[in-house]
Amino acid sequence: MPGFASRLIAWQRQQGRHHLPWQNTRDAYRIWLSEIMLQQTQVTTVIEYYLRFVKSFPTVQALAAAPLVRVLEHWSGLGYYRRAHHLHAAAQKVVKDYGGVFPDSQEQLMVLPGIGRSTAAAIAVFAFGHRAAILDGNVRRLLARHHGIEGFPGLPAVEKTLWALAEKLLPKQHLETYTQGLMDIGAQICTRSKPQCAQCPLRSDCAAYHQDRVHELPTPRSGKKATRRDFCLLMLCRNGRILLEVRANRGIWSGLWSFPECDTNDNLAALIRARWGLTLAAKTVQPVKIHKLTHRTLHITPILVTVRGRLRCAATAPEARFLTLSEARQCALPAPVRQLLAPDRLFSAT
Ligand code: ADE
Repeated sequence: MPGFASRLIAWQRQQGRHHLPWQNTRDAYRIWLSEIMLQQTQVTTVIEYYLRFVKSFPTVQALAAAPLVRVLEHWSGLGYYRRAHHLHAAAQKVVKDYGGVFPDSQEQLMVLPGIGRSTAAAIAVFAFGHRAAILDGNVRRLLARHHGIEGFPGLPAVEKTLWALAEKLLPKQHLETYTQGLMDIGAQICTRSKPQCAQCPLRSDCAAYHQDRVHELPTPRSGKKATRRDFCLLMLCRNGRILLEVRANRGIWSGLWSFPECDTNDNLAALIRARWGLTLAAKTVQPVKIHKLTHRTLHITPILVTVRGRLRCAATAPEARFLTLSEARQCALPAPVRQLLAPDRLFSAT
């Protein structure tokens, strides 16, 4: 039987993806951008964001020179915004320290913000044709199943075993096809909840498949539950406009525009007067919206408030503006805020 890598390469040639917008190029900027976007987001979602991004920022110089807020606008809705902050910082470092030319070694790539060992390997393979092993979440799952590796892959000892295996399995040639094949099988066949083992070229010697343990591996993280946070988002409306404010440069959604946040038991009329000098005229509490982040589950109570008066932000309050709906939608917004900006949710009670 052909080895692991040979079967993967043959499968990739016949069934893998060959026409994604960041393929068939050696442009390190484009490959880097795609790898960052693909770190926590699926290919189908990334395509549209990627195309819009490279149209607005066609080179690393253009990205480095852009204001951060414009970069965040282009990231709005993709989630995990730290990626966008890192992306901007890395572009500036490439321009300043490397004259706008991406370094070509995995070690040097790993020094750039937002690039870990696996992403650096993917860029080294796709942009520079190097021999390097990747180990993203999908590949961890594939290898844990194929080799029957026990233990939560986030544990250092398990991770070390998986990295050693990823290195050992590397073929001598056709690294790009091999690497793309690993990614594509991990994303399309060896999926977390509905693996398509019948179509997998690695099934014949897959430990999990033969031991009927595909749904048990990789071992889930034990016990750690996402913590819950309850808060309200105030949707302040005045004459068909909505108030948005810039979030502080820390905590979730930093640097994005959002509805102001308050505690569930705050006195609204007093808070609105103190923070913005406005008068509460009417309010409607909307159903709770649940939004899951990696380690936190947000229970958001949206409160639609009609206000009157002239906006006078308190000195301690963040920058805030009344915007039309179409202006608001052009801002860099977290996903739940964008969803709350649907016209039927906003102006039904005003
Ligand atoms: N996931 C991470 N990088 C990828 C790539 N280059 N193609 C498809 N899926 C990916």
